[in-house]
Amino acid sequence: MADKKLKIGVVGCGGIFKWAHLTAYARMDNVEIVALCDIVPGRAESMKEFAHATYNSDVLDNARCYTDFDEFIKDSDIESVDICTPNYLHSPFAVKSLEAGKHVFCEKPDSVSVADTEKMKAASEQAGKVLMVMRNNRHTDAAKKLKRMADAGEFGDLYCGRCGWVRRRGIPGKGGWFTTKAQSGGGPLIDLGVHMIDLAIYIMGNPTPVAVSGSIYSKFSDDTAEASSEHAAFGETASDGTFDVEDLAMGFIKFDNGACLQIEFSWASNIEEGDRNFVELRGSKAGFKWENSGTQAKIFSEAFGQLIDVNLNIDKNVQGHEGNLRHYVDVVLNGAKPDFEPQQGINMIKILSAIYESARTGHEVSLVD
Ligand SMILES: NC(=O)c1ccc[n+]([C@@H]2O[C@H](COP(=O)([O-])OP(=O)(O)OC[C@H]3O[C@@H](n4cnc5c(N)ncnc54)[C@H](O)[C@@H]3O)[C@@H](O)[C@H]2O)c1
Repeated sequence: MADKKLKIGVVGCGGIFKWAHLTAYARMDNVEIVALCDIVPGRAESMKEFAHATYNSDVLDNARCYTDFDEFIKDSDIESVDICTPNYLHSPFAVKSLEAGKHVFCEKPDSVSVADTEKMKAASEQAGKVLMVMRNNRHTDAAKKLKRMADAGEFGDLYCGRCGWVRRRGIPGKGGWFTTKAQSGGGPLIDLGVHMIDLAIYIMGNPTPVAVSGSIYSKFSDDTAEASSEHAAFGETASDGTFDVEDLAMGFIKFDNGACLQIEFSWASNIEEGDRNFVELRGSKAGFKWENSGTQAKIFSEAFGQLIDVNLNIDKNVQGHEGNLRHYVDVVLNGAKPDFEPQQGINMIKILSAIYESARTGHEVSLVD
C-alpha cells in the first residue's frame, strides 16, 4: 500500500477514460478517485459498475458524481483533475482547475489554439501547480530505450526523419465532436499528429521548430459505408452531424538545428496499411524506426564492416498511458522531475496551427518572430 494517495477528480467519462485512464487507476495503489463528472446524466455513475465488470475494480466506488463541471470543481476533496473531455474544453477546464488550486493532468492535444495553450501554462505558473498533458507514446518501453540511446549520443546527430499515423479507414466519432473543427481543432493532424510529432521531437532532444509547410484534404466526409468509423471506442457518431475537418494531412517541419521532419496523418486514405503509426529518425551513426504504438522498433547501423539491423528488445507489458499517469502522480506526490514541460505543448500547437495556416495559404509559414 502506498503511504500517500493522490485524490483525483475525473471530468469526461468517454472512450479514453474507460479504456486507458481507468485501466491504469484500477492497477495503481497511490490514487483515490474521489469525484467523476460527465455532462451526460448517469454516465459518471455508470462507470462504477463498468469498473467492476471490466476491471474487477472498486477504485470508483467512493467517487461523488457530477454533471456540471463548475459544481465538480468546488469539491474541496479533489487535489488533482484529470481532463478527458473533447479538445475544446481542455484549456477552459484546466485553467479553472488550476485557479481552484488543483493540479492538472490533461488528455492530448494540449488545446485547440496557441492562445488557449498559453493560458494553461500561465495558470499553472500562477497557481504553482503541476500541469501535464498526456504524451503516452513517450512512456512506451521502446520509446524510453530509444530516448536514452539518443541522449547518450548512440545515434550521433539525429538530423532528419519521418513520422506519421496513417489509417486506411478509421474516422473517430464521425459527425460528432472529433469531426467538428470548433470542438476538435482539426482532424488527424491534431488528433494523431500530436502523438507522433511529439515523440519524434522528444527523441531528437526538443529542437525548436522554425518553419512548416503542409497540405490537408477532406475526401471521406460523405457518409459512405466504407469510410464510416472503425474507431467506435472513441467519440460518438452523429449521422446528421458536422464534418468540417481534414481526413488527411501531409507536411514538413524545419528546426533551428537544421534538422527536418516529414509528416503524414490520415483517418481515411486509399493505402495498403489498415492502421500504422511510426517514427523513423536518421542519425549520423545510426537510425531507428519505432512502429505500431511501440510494439516494434529496429535500429539501423554499420558495424564489423557490414550493415546491421538490430531488433530492440521491448517489454510489451509497459503500457504508455499507464506509464504517463504513473509518472504524473510521481511528480505530484514525490516531486519527481517532470518529463513534460508546458512550453513543449505550446510549441506543438504552434506547429500544428502553422501547418493548417500553410495549407490554407499555400505557403511555408515561419515560426520565428
Ligand atoms: N491519448 C490517447 O491515446 C487518446 C486516445 C483517444 C482520445 N484521446 C483524447 O481524449 C479526449 C476524449 O476523447 P474520447 O475519445 O474519450 O471522447 P468521447 O467523446 O468518447 O468522451 C468524451 C466524454 O466527455 C464528456 N463531456 C463532453 N462535454 C462535457 C462537459 N462539458 N462536461 C463534462 N463532460 C463532458 C462526454 O459526455 C463524453 O463522455 C480527447 O481530447 C481526445 O483527443 C486521447
